[in-house]
Amino acid sequence: MLEGTRIRLVAPRKEFLPTFTKWMNDREILQYLLMYKPMTLEVEEKWFDQMIKQEGTILFSILTRSSTEKEKLIGNVDIGIDHRNGVGSLGIIIGEKDYWGQGYGTEALRLLIAYAFDTLNLQKVEIEVFSSNPRALASYKKVGFIEEGLKRRRYYIRGEYVDAIQLGMLKEEFHD
Ligand SMILES: CC(C)(COP(=O)(O)OP(=O)(O)OC[C@H]1O[C@@H](n2cnc3c(N)ncnc32)[C@H](O)[C@@H]1OP(=O)(O)O)[C@@H](O)C(=O)NCCC(=O)NCCS
Repeated sequence: MLEGTRIRLVAPRKEFLPTFTKWMNDREILQYLLMYKPMTLEVEEKWFDQMIKQEGTILFSILTRSSTEKEKLIGNVDIGIDHRNGVGSLGIIIGEKDYWGQGYGTEALRLLIAYAFDTLNLQKVEIEVFSSNPRALASYKKVGFIEEGLKRRRYYIRGEYVDAIQLGMLKEEFHD
């Protein structure tokens, strides 16, 4: 649905759920997220059924696009929409770890942010990241997010407290 150079963002399909469940049980991935409970396919299915009915949340799955290879599901991006104030809260996960650090996350965020401003008519997007996640922070800054706040010692992750860094971007600050 949203076409990038190396990826496209599409509506998530039920057949993707076993892969989502695999990602949500991977402790290397979970250290960067708020989730901590073991995930089953049944719970994931319930979450999916509720999520697609919600007006205020939009989830896209990230597929690689290539003229030679089969497209591959590598992650998800989502946006929670505050219509009254015109603000979107973003989330991202590249669940296929072999694809980390190769620019896919940054490209997916650019597509989602363009959609937030040009299609949803939002005026601002926000994202939050743990201080223990320098890769995500670097990606967000590359896209144009600006640090707006720091919640000290906000989350307990893998035996230690981490800060929550809050970033934001206004519509006019986004350069596609
Ligand atoms: C965070 C995430 C979405 C970023 O996507 P990605 O495709 O891996 O990131 P990109 O390759 O686009 O950009 C990462 C940047 O961080 C840099 N980076 C990687 N490790 C780093 C480190 N330890 N310190 C500083 N910068 C680092 C990379 O060099 C790259 O910058 P560059 O292109 O200027 O070289 C992805 O890694 C992911 O899903 N991780 C697991 C879940 C997660 O953290 N989700 C976000 C929760 S807020």
